[in-house]
Amino acid sequence: MDIKSVFANNEKWIASKLATDKHYFEKLASGQKPEFLYIGCSDSRVTAEDLMGIQPGEAFVHRNIANLVNNVDLNVMSVLNYSVRHLKVNHIVVCGHYNCGGVKAAMQPADMGILNPWLRNIRDVYRLHRDELNAIKDEEKRYERLVELNVQEQCVNLIKTAAVQEANKERGLKVHGWVFDIHTGKLIDLKIDFDKILKDIVEIYNLYPAAE
Ligand code: CO
Repeated sequence: MDIKSVFANNEKWIASKLATDKHYFEKLASGQKPEFLYIGCSDSRVTAEDLMGIQPGEAFVHRNIANLVNNVDLNVMSVLNYSVRHLKVNHIVVCGHYNCGGVKAAMQPADMGILNPWLRNIRDVYRLHRDELNAIKDEEKRYERLVELNVQEQCVNLIKTAAVQEANKERGLKVHGWVFDIHTGKLIDLKIDFDKILKDIVEIYNLYPAAE
């Protein structure tokens, strides 16, 4: 893929959209009402729209290294608040993936420079689940389990926020944890128990009293 073909591809894409609907771009420009907020990894192989089979306008998307939801990251918190409070998405998905370089890096004893504070969020997930992870002798399996537990903990981080607690109370917004299996293309639903996590969490992280 060279840079020139991007523009040629863009022209082809415009033509294909207009061939099915000549008002396609007028409709696209008129506004957005996505049903999902998708938070995924920046990994070039894990493209949100392709793997869900969705079209422009259907998901608000945030991607970062290892799909982290960090409470002091102004970027992810802005995306969360805008999409939940203004666009009124009804589902938030955290989608991790096997073979995640970010998760792998967090399992290495190495100084990664500016990435250290970012990856430390994953090391914290490891610490929280140390007994379970250390009991897995097969390193590959342990790595895959950390990918899953990282998704689970990012879902917990979302449920800690006032925006999510409020939107759940008001319109039943739910948080979902998925893993993309890069070996098969399959999307795996980790079946995060939203209500149970919310119930556990509001004891300490209750920012919206009516959420109890
Ligand atoms: Co990744």
